[in-house]
Amino acid sequence: MYESLIKPFLFLFDPEFMHDSFVAIGQVLGAFPGGKQIVRMFCAYENPSLETNVLGIGFKNPIGLAAGFDKDVRLTKIMPSVGFGFMEAGAVTRFPYGGNPGRRLVRLPEDRSIIVYYGLKNIGAAAIEKKISRLLPFKIPVGLNIAKTNHADIKGEKSVEDYVMTYRTLAEHFAYVTLNVSCPNAGDGRLFQDPQMLDSLLTAFAKEEKHGPIFLKISTDLTTQEVDVILGIVQKYSFIDGFVIGNLVKRRDVLHMKSPASRLDLLPQGGISGTPIKELSTNLIRHIYRRTNGKYVLIGLGGVFTAEDAYEKIKAGASLVQIITGLIYGGPTVVKRINQGLVKLLAHDGYEHISEAIGVEANMIEAERN
Ligand SMILES: Cc1cc2nc3c(=O)[nH]c(=O)nc-3n(C[C@H](O)[C@H](O)[C@H](O)COP(=O)(O)O)c2cc1C
Repeated sequence: MYESLIKPFLFLFDPEFMHDSFVAIGQVLGAFPGGKQIVRMFCAYENPSLETNVLGIGFKNPIGLAAGFDKDVRLTKIMPSVGFGFMEAGAVTRFPYGGNPGRRLVRLPEDRSIIVYYGLKNIGAAAIEKKISRLLPFKIPVGLNIAKTNHADIKGEKSVEDYVMTYRTLAEHFAYVTLNVSCPNAGDGRLFQDPQMLDSLLTAFAKEEKHGPIFLKISTDLTTQEVDVILGIVQKYSFIDGFVIGNLVKRRDVLHMKSPASRLDLLPQGGISGTPIKELSTNLIRHIYRRTNGKYVLIGLGGVFTAEDAYEKIKAGASLVQIITGLIYGGPTVVKRINQGLVKLLAHDGYEHISEAIGVEANMIEAERN
């Protein structure tokens, strides 16, 4: 019903207006037991074969909300009722930022994709710290995605300090933290994928008190050579537990897109989400899983709309999967559909539990090679 009736109506409106409206409605529904109950009635689904424990954290299912939907930590009360096994709030930065000027979102229905140019719009770490006690305890694991404040005057040493300060302010309240070094829409949002810069960032974090698992979110369009350099650096720092793979894609020349140029040109500088980046991200997950022999926990995302898409990421090596464009195109019941489908796919392949499927395809390819 959402896809055929509700979505065509909602898609008549400006995408950023719709995003803001959904967050506002979600926050209101989450504030009342009745609101949560109604959402649960349509969206809830549980199955023991999906319950999993990753790095000491219990998950009811492996499907999470990706960073970017709940930038200001407003949806932690409603998302458990939507059926998510976990969620990643943010990106949050040390200082608030109102977002890049002009149009910031364009839908690409032919590609089931969105062009995103928010540029790390958020209310800042201090404002979130101020309200956090009213939100705790979280009902599902909530991770926090932190990035460098989008401000050209913050550079060099100050950039490292900027990340660290957000971490110190907020990390203790969240199940895990993701260091986002791959935002394509902030002037220097991808700066810390540079080997030297990454090394200096991780050196600083190595001195911090650790509150929970720490992940690194990388770009989906990294080449294998670039990723191998990053892996070489990360392996020196034992406090990094895994990778979130991956972020929006800036380089459109590596994508096969169906949308007309007239639409793509509405936001030429924005990052691409959804179907066009699906295969790139799965390939990157598989590469990292194999290269590191499954040493790191991988959270896979990029173009997940169905159970089959999620299963592909899991078989390539992801322990957990996130969605955001899939939620926007599929509506809130998409989480239930993905989880129901996963249970069927697991049974079809003879697995009793989701953990048995992690990385099987990556391992199979390795075995064939040997
Ligand atoms: C509207 C929107 C906002 C986003 N904002 C962030 C963000 O603040 N931080 C981040 O790490 N990723 C952000 N992303 C990237 C997503 O988390 C995800 O990596 C990417 O969209 C691929 O997943 P998808 O194909 O399910 O959309 C955003 C994506 C969208 C669509």
